[in-house]
Amino acid sequence: MSPIVLAALLTLSCTGASVNELPPVADLPEQEALPDPFTMMDGTPVTTAEDWREKRRPELVQLFQHYMYGFAPEAESEFREDAPEAEAFDGTARVKQIEIRIKGLPEDAPRIHLAVIVPNTPGPHPVMLGIKRVGNHATCGAEALLQREDAYIPEASRKDGASERGGRSDFWCVEYILSRGYAFATFLESDVDPDENDFTNGIHPWYPDLPYPKDAQWATIRAWAWGFRRCVDYLVTDPDIDAGKIGVIGHSRRGKTALLAAALDERIALAVPHQSGTGGCAISRASEQETVERINRVFPHWFNGNFKQFNDNEARLPFDQHLLIALVAPRALLDTEGKQDAWANNPASLRALGAADPVWKLLGAPGIEGPARVEDVNDIQPGKVGNLLQLRLDTKHDLTRDYWVGILNFADAVYGR
Ligand code: GCU
Repeated sequence: MSPIVLAALLTLSCTGASVNELPPVADLPEQEALPDPFTMMDGTPVTTAEDWREKRRPELVQLFQHYMYGFAPEAESEFREDAPEAEAFDGTARVKQIEIRIKGLPEDAPRIHLAVIVPNTPGPHPVMLGIKRVGNHATCGAEALLQREDAYIPEASRKDGASERGGRSDFWCVEYILSRGYAFATFLESDVDPDENDFTNGIHPWYPDLPYPKDAQWATIRAWAWGFRRCVDYLVTDPDIDAGKIGVIGHSRRGKTALLAAALDERIALAVPHQSGTGGCAISRASEQETVERINRVFPHWFNGNFKQFNDNEARLPFDQHLLIALVAPRALLDTEGKQDAWANNPASLRALGAADPVWKLLGAPGIEGPARVEDVNDIQPGKVGNLLQLRLDTKHDLTRDYWVGILNFADAVYGR
């Protein structure tokens, strides 16, 4: 190892990682095996829960941002009502619509329009917060949900009807969620950043002077995760919501986002990265499905500039996705996967869960208890599962009601409901 790299690693271990001192990718050691959760970058072993919390967790938070997702700005959220609270579903629920702005940004900066639908029963309620590519009005038939004509919706979603009012009812199953006593909250990804290889739109141009090297700055998935954080800023203030029971969910590229959001934001109690694949729960090394090179080539805006240097070079990653999962510990994570959805690589995600599990154990929390994977939602019962599990159903790349049954069974089990 060169003296420069050694010096950088030593600085890293002493300071808790100043990003400007992290080694260039070419100087990272090659490791074919999965990096050990319990070995710091400089080789120091991690043996106690305190070591994890105070040293390894902060190191990994830095590494994932520096080499893959990018660093995002700190922000203070401000809330205004988008519309007065209204009833929905024959008075069995209430709809709240909140505009989230960022303190200090100009009037015309992007803002997030968060919809929160709460069961009309005594609360506070646990909540599932979902990111999506269509407007809030598309998630269910609640008439009160605003349809914002100025929202950016990708062409494909306009064509397939998904962006119509209630067009994604079968996907989000909002009435079912409410019937289980959960609130549902949601926001549109393009309120933060349109899903395009373009950093001149969305939130990015509003932060021209971030104190990070350009290739370490936030890309689109990091920006969406920052959007999750802003929504959580609101949810923890809402008396209808149980602030200790906030779950996050997204599908596919948004599953990658939900995982990252939960990894970084410890206020999130439950992560449901749905069919998240590469850049989500699936291990990047030796992928038989989507490789790092492929995802970077086809979706260059999802990850930062540094991550491109791992194309055909995954062995130099100082982490793999099991360690992003491990950042959720001791909280709960349900990895939902489709048996027919080969591209999302559920075997590689199952491997990641197994490799992350020791971190739950170190923290004294139930990780994988019993089988790591179940294929029947009825197997998800209190006492039968821990805080870490894969649910694989016989579906393609989609979200269906059966998944919601499993997700809420899991949430009930981990929340002790
Ligand atoms: C593509 C991409 C995946 C992604 C998926 C999606 O298939 O290769 O990584 O998860 O789109 O978001 O639907």
